[in-house]
Amino acid sequence: MSQSAAISWTGNDTPQSIRFNDAYYNPEAGLGEARHVFLGGNDLPARLRAGFHVAELGFGTGLNLLALADVWEGPGTLRFTSFEAFPLAPADMARALAPFAGALRAGLIEALLASWARAEGPLRLLSLPGIEAKVHIGDARETLPRWPGRADAWFLDGFAPARNPQMWEATLMAEIAAHTAPGGSFASFTAAGHVRRALAEAGFAVTRLPGFGRKRHMSAGRLEQTP
Ligand SMILES: C[S@@+](CC[C@H](N)C(=O)[O-])C[C@H]1O[C@@H](n2cnc3c(N)ncnc32)[C@H](O)[C@@H]1O
Repeated sequence: MSQSAAISWTGNDTPQSIRFNDAYYNPEAGLGEARHVFLGGNDLPARLRAGFHVAELGFGTGLNLLALADVWEGPGTLRFTSFEAFPLAPADMARALAPFAGALRAGLIEALLASWARAEGPLRLLSLPGIEAKVHIGDARETLPRWPGRADAWFLDGFAPARNPQMWEATLMAEIAAHTAPGGSFASFTAAGHVRRALAEAGFAVTRLPGFGRKRHMSAGRLEQTP
């Protein structure tokens, strides 16, 4: 049985994890942050093509998936795989996503919410226009090593490393590299030194980029090609 996320709501209705004492996304501009950090940091949408596979640590409200779906007009289907230990209750997800309705293509939020409400069990299959998505429920340190896939781009979106160190352990960063296709990439809102070093040691050429909003830096990288 998975444990659901315990949520509180800040003054501007941003979801906050009670377990990790951290916000799911930037309270002022969650969608802007998703676009800047996760799309921009992976050079998307420029690299997208049918069959392109995005993977994510930390599904949360599904906002990053929606930001991706919003920029994909086909032809063909993208693949998206996320790893989440504490799935949100459908009502919490609906409340979290409501403020973004006017900023995303019509129907995307509704498609995600309808899929999420139907999905259950350890592997949740979600269907959005142009995207086949799967969410593996459980601690990513256990579920990712068992995953047979390799992603073209990773969204590394645990809570802040100081509050959620489990999501940034060096062994998990090595699993990210092992589950990345040749020439694949990652992006993350954090530029914490130990995270960047772990990703570099795992085989990524890591760069520090300007962060979103008040955050000075974020990080991104490409898997180094072995000769
Ligand atoms: C910053 S939030 C993700 C936000 C999300 N990407 C979105 O678009 O809303 C971090 C997520 O990581 C999840 N998480 C924390 N520790 C985890 C672990 N060990 N394994 C898998 N997921 C974990 C949390 O439950 C939370 O949903």
